[in-house]
Amino acid sequence: MDVSVIDLIEKRCSWRSFSGASLPVDAKQKMEEFLADPGTPPFRSQTRFELVDAGVDGAKRVPGTYGVIKGARDFIVGVVKPGPNNLEDYGYLFEKAILFATALDLGTCWMGGTLRHTIFAEKIRLQKDEVLPCICPVGLRAPRKTLVDAMFAAGAGSKKRKAWPELFFHNDFSSPLTQKAAGEYSTPLEMVRLAPSASNRQPWRIIDSDSGFHLFLTRNKAYKNIFKADLQRIDMGIAMCHFELSAREKGLEGRWTESDPKISRTPERTEYVATWEINR
Ligand SMILES: Cc1cc2nc3c(=O)[nH]c(=O)nc-3n(C[C@H](O)[C@H](O)[C@H](O)COP(=O)(O)O)c2cc1C
Repeated sequence: MDVSVIDLIEKRCSWRSFSGASLPVDAKQKMEEFLADPGTPPFRSQTRFELVDAGVDGAKRVPGTYGVIKGARDFIVGVVKPGPNNLEDYGYLFEKAILFATALDLGTCWMGGTLRHTIFAEKIRLQKDEVLPCICPVGLRAPRKTLVDAMFAAGAGSKKRKAWPELFFHNDFSSPLTQKAAGEYSTPLEMVRLAPSASNRQPWRIIDSDSGFHLFLTRNKAYKNIFKADLQRIDMGIAMCHFELSAREKGLEGRWTESDPKISRTPERTEYVATWEINR
């Protein structure tokens, strides 16, 4: 599509009030074509995505999720096979689909829950060796947000993001990276900062170094739910999607590698995820 991914990232926000109508035929077809072949994720995990019609107010049947979704009937449903970094890959491709839906001017909202025994698992014919961690309503927005939606978004502080010094660093975790010092990479980093994350926890941390940008996950203390997939790893995949697509749009080429810089002093509950290696 001939649109700026940076514009799409800036435009996207979670939308929880839908019109109740099915997707227009044209949008549905485009969405289905995209989901049939969303590309290869960084760690090459096996994924499947489908558009599912869950009937009127389908989101009422989603245990384990939060927020109140109204009037949604079409959903992006994605599954992934087990494997190293499978949830990062899942987040990366799912977010690409969400940005594609944003380009079609559709409303979306990530929803992570316990989905194995739902209509969504049934419709996508979930296999024993697959996990189904998230779904996303996709459709025409209701002319106005419901009161609950507006209150929820405000209460969750969903517009708020952590400031640069909390997220981005130079060489190690003790030296914050300024936008000025990041130079041409300030845009891809800012696009990470604007990313959606489960409960808006923003667990991504990035260290800029000579070889590239090292991504880390700083887990939230209270955020391990044994019934749910590890949503914070999905958040990391979303960040990778935003970083890569906006870097490429700026003509900054590179590739994802696994080259842990073995930083000696890392903050608590922090783990290495991947490196964006710069083509110099
Ligand atoms: C993996 C993941 C799971 C999420 N699960 C839910 C959910 O179950 N219910 C919900 O209303 N929002 C959910 N969200 C949306 C976040 O609350 C939202 O992205 C965050 O508050 C930032 O707001 P924004 O998307 O408007 O920028 C989820 C987001 C992510 C990335």
